[in-house]
Amino acid sequence: MSNANPNLTWHSNNLSKEERRSSLGYIGATIWFTGLSGSGKSSIASATEKLIVSSGRPSYLLDGDNLRLGLNEDLNFSAEDRHENVRRVAEVARLFADAGLVALVPLISPYRKDRQNAREIHDRFDLKFIEVFVDTPIEVCEERDPKGLYKKARSGEIKGFTGIDDPYEAPNDPDLILTPENGLPEDGAKLVLQLLEM
Ligand code: ADX
Repeated sequence: MSNANPNLTWHSNNLSKEERRSSLGYIGATIWFTGLSGSGKSSIASATEKLIVSSGRPSYLLDGDNLRLGLNEDLNFSAEDRHENVRRVAEVARLFADAGLVALVPLISPYRKDRQNAREIHDRFDLKFIEVFVDTPIEVCEERDPKGLYKKARSGEIKGFTGIDDPYEAPNDPDLILTPENGLPEDGAKLVLQLLEM
């Protein structure tokens, strides 16, 4: 485990994944939902959580907005802070997945390299990482505007809003793409679940 600080030592956990599995019955994973604000990421992630938990498997939703009210309250929306936001949430998701849960992460995560980093954080621990692109056209997100933020971005009240005056880099090779044609969040969640079970 590399670390910039030479005075820190990585302590390996004594339990193997198999030992953990024998107590919980499952191996953890992370499902990462990327897409514009208002694309439906949180609704699909929430529907997915419901399906997983009702099947008896432990899962936990790590919602980007909620984490920005706590763990990440010191971060804003500059490229550097979005990078740090994604890195921290990926590390937390990795811990949840390592503990045997399915971590569900709806985060705009607009930069490809940050999402790639999130995947690598999981790869290093041999944990499954599924990237779902919630590909809702910006016109639809703006029409929905559930929090009134597109309106504020258009009027200039919010600067650097993703999709308006800040970039969003769509995934080149996501594990799953969901569009509004896929129907309700519950319908999307069923498709996500199929990937988890593969
Ligand atoms: S990310 O870019 O760092 O991944 P994150 O998913 O945590 O973003 O937070 C996005 C949420 O913050 C949006 O759903 C929206 O409610 C709110 N928000 C406030 N300001 C902005 C902004 N400038 N750009 C995007 N989202 C914003």
